[in-house]
Order: sequence, then structure tokens, then C-alpha cells
Amino acid sequence: MASTYGPAQVLVASNRGPVSYGVREDGSLHAKRGGGGLVSGLSAIGPDAGALWVCSALGDGDREAVRRGVGESGVRMLDIPAGVHADAYNGIANSVLWFVHHMLYQTPLEPVFDAGFRRQWAAYEAYNRSFARALAQEAAEGAAVLVQDYHLTLVPGMLRELRPDLRIGHFSHTPWAPPEYFRMLPEDVAGQVLRGMLGADRLGFLTHRWADAFTACCEAFAGGLGGTRVGVHGLGADADFLRRRSREADVEERMAALRAEIGEGRKAIVRVDRTELSKNIVRGLLAYRQLLDDRPEWRERVVHVAFAYPSRQDLAVYRDYTAEVRRVADEINERYGTPGWTPVVLHVKDDFARSLAAYRLADVALVNPIRDGMNLVAKEVPVVSDEGCALVLSREAGAYEELGEDAVGVNPYDITGTARALHEALSMRPGERADRAKRLAAAATALPPARWFLDQLNALREQPTA
Ligand code: F6P
Repeated sequence: MASTYGPAQVLVASNRGPVSYGVREDGSLHAKRGGGGLVSGLSAIGPDAGALWVCSALGDGDREAVRRGVGESGVRMLDIPAGVHADAYNGIANSVLWFVHHMLYQTPLEPVFDAGFRRQWAAYEAYNRSFARALAQEAAEGAAVLVQDYHLTLVPGMLRELRPDLRIGHFSHTPWAPPEYFRMLPEDVAGQVLRGMLGADRLGFLTHRWADAFTACCEAFAGGLGGTRVGVHGLGADADFLRRRSREADVEERMAALRAEIGEGRKAIVRVDRTELSKNIVRGLLAYRQLLDDRPEWRERVVHVAFAYPSRQDLAVYRDYTAEVRRVADEINERYGTPGWTPVVLHVKDDFARSLAAYRLADVALVNPIRDGMNLVAKEVPVVSDEGCALVLSREAGAYEELGEDAVGVNPYDITGTARALHEALSMRPGERADRAKRLAAAATALPPARWFLDQLNALREQPTA
């Protein structure tokens, strides 16, 4: 058995990896590297630590890279059959588990647990098994494995059976549903998810609220946590990176362009999101419309800069939502716009430098998700904004646990309340706004990505196995 062990001492497993490949017209491949907490976290342990990232091949470029044996050292891409991946990722992870944890089901978006769901569930199991097998193959004896997110809830249990010697952790980047909502899942499926997670030695969540909800689900449906420990690690913004990157020339260029779109002397309410149902972009626009109705003094004096980047466009419900965002933004511009003033500046093409430019120019950041694991935009804007912006923040975002005192809190369903909060944020005295922004930035950077990752790794290594 020992001879089958691999060399990796630290393994990360996630659906989306740190690199993806595109195919050029001449057939050659080019790599695109991603950022985010896990990337900085893993780089913090150094190149000699024997780290390996196991992820899915996503799209044609990645599959081609696997076929040609092209790849980065420290990354293993799994070429899971496209149909299995689509059922597991679009069908189960993004259409069922995402909806349950974000409590997004409401008529007419209802869960359908029929034969089609069962087929997709079998794909989700197969997809999780591919990860478990690859990890079992690659991990050195006693290695630490950090499994990520709702795509891979079954992996800890499957891996525990294959490799009882490993230290297994799982981290949820989403909220966790309370028992009354989680019990909507068919009983056997709910049981498999919880038992799968409980195969880990240690489970990490972004806030106490999500950790408590998971514990309550285990008490209600799985006889408790068993030997599994639960920890809270509130991922923070990467201040050094953001401050450096947001001063680069491409960001300055985009600031000039945005300033021209906003217009001289106007205030900017900024939002930056993936066009994701949980982000509540449409209600944000409706709240802005109500602000212009209730407080006509803001007309011509404010612009809503809304960046809504494409997400999960394979799913009809996301495509419909994207169309609705455009429709409402257009409607506001038609109704209130004047020759010199466009009330909503909507951009839908992903551009990180332009996002940072908007962060720098923000007077108010609007972050109003229905429910969110953390929401890093809420943490990033106060760090980057030139003048120290005010933050309108949903009480249902994980970030509220840390930033609530200095933000203007909102109930994300309450459009009138959000309009009032926007007015309050726009009217905040400069001194108060700057003081609050300073405290927001300090709280937002309390646990930078590298420490967030190392804290989890150390806690996992130090605790006895389950
Ligand atoms: O925000 C939670 C999260 O699970 C992230 O950890 C992850 O990057 C993302 O959602 C997954 O979404 P997608 O597959 O659309 O990139």
C-alpha cells in the first residue's frame, strides 16, 4: 500500500483551479492564471512545500491541455467527461446546493427532485469520486488535504475510506442553510452530503452563523458532529496586493474613462458583482430608482456605476437574470436620464482593472446580497477607495459579522429601506465617512489570504484525526 502513495504533502481540491487554458487560432494553448484567496494562500507555503492543486478541466482549452500533457507543475487537472461535469456542476452544485445554501428557491423557482435530479446526483457522486481517487493517488502518507466548497461535499468521506492516514479538511465559501431549509433536500441526499462532509477531520466556514447552521443540520439529521471539529476563518482582503495593483497605469486609464462617464462633481454609487441571483442586483437598481423618486435633489448629482459580470451562462435562470438587470438599468436611464446625465452606467464585460478604478472612485459601495458566504467586494472597496467610501451592506452577507458596526446595514429585500440607506450613505459627513472607512479597512484586512490559509492548514495538522 505504501508504494502507491504519491509525493504531495499539501493538497488543495476545488472545481475551478488556479489556471485555465484557451486555444489560439493557430491551435496553440495559452494559460490564464487566476487570483483569489487560495492562490495567495498556497503561494505563502512556498514552492518547496510539496503542494498540489487538484481541479477540473473546464472547457475545451483545459481538456486539450490534459490531452496534450501540457500543464503547470503543482496542478493536476481532472478530465471528467463533459456530461458528468455538466450534471454535477450545473445540475447539482449550482442549481440545487447553491440554491439551498443561499435560500434562493421561491415560486416559480422551485426544486425538482425527480428522475432527472437522480441522474444528476449520480453524476455528482461520480465527479466527487474522481477527485477522491486522484487525491488518494497523489497524497503522501499523512498529508494534509484541503477540499473546497459545495461542489465537493462527498470527497472527505470518500477519501477517508481510501486513505485513513490523511488529514482531511473541507472549507465552505458559501453560507450553510439552516435545518428548516436544508431538510428540503431528499433525506438520503441530505444524509450523504452531511456524512460526506463529516468524513473530514476539520470543517471551515467563513462566519459563526454558517458554522452554527451546519452544526444544527448535523444535530438534526446526522446524530451530531462525531469527531469532526468545526472552525471559523473569515477570509479578509489582500491589502498589499490591492493597494499596489490599484495604482498601476491600466487602472489610472480606466479611472479617467469612468470619470468622464460619471461627469464632473457627481457622486458615484458603485457595485461590482458576478451576475448571480444571490447578489440581488435588480433590487439594488430598484432601490436606486426609488432614491431618485423620493429624493429628486439627487437627480443629476449621482451616478450608479454597476458592474455585473457574466456568470453561469449555461443556466437559463442566470441568462434571464442578466437580461432583467439590463432591462431595469435601461428603464431607469430612459425614465430619468437627461442629455448630460446617464443615471446608471452598466458594464457587463469582466475587467478587473476597471473594477479597481470604480473602487477608487466610489463614494458609496452598494453590497446587498440576499445571502452571501462573505462578499469580498464589501471588504475590498474600503481598502482601495481614494476618499474612503461609505458602505451600504446587507445584513445577510457574511461580511456583516465583521463590518456591520461601520456599514449602513440593510435588509436586502427591503427596497425602500435600501433607498433610504443609499441616501444616508450619500449624505454622510466627510469626517464621519473617512473615520468609518478607516475602521472598515482595518476590519476587512484582519485576516489576509495567506494567513487565512495557513491558519487552516496548521489547525488541521495539529488536531487529532477523526
Ligand atoms: O463565492 C462562493 C464560490 O463558491 C467561490 O468560492 C467560487 O469561486 C464560486 O463561488 C464558484 O462559482 P463559479 O463556479 O461560477 O465560478
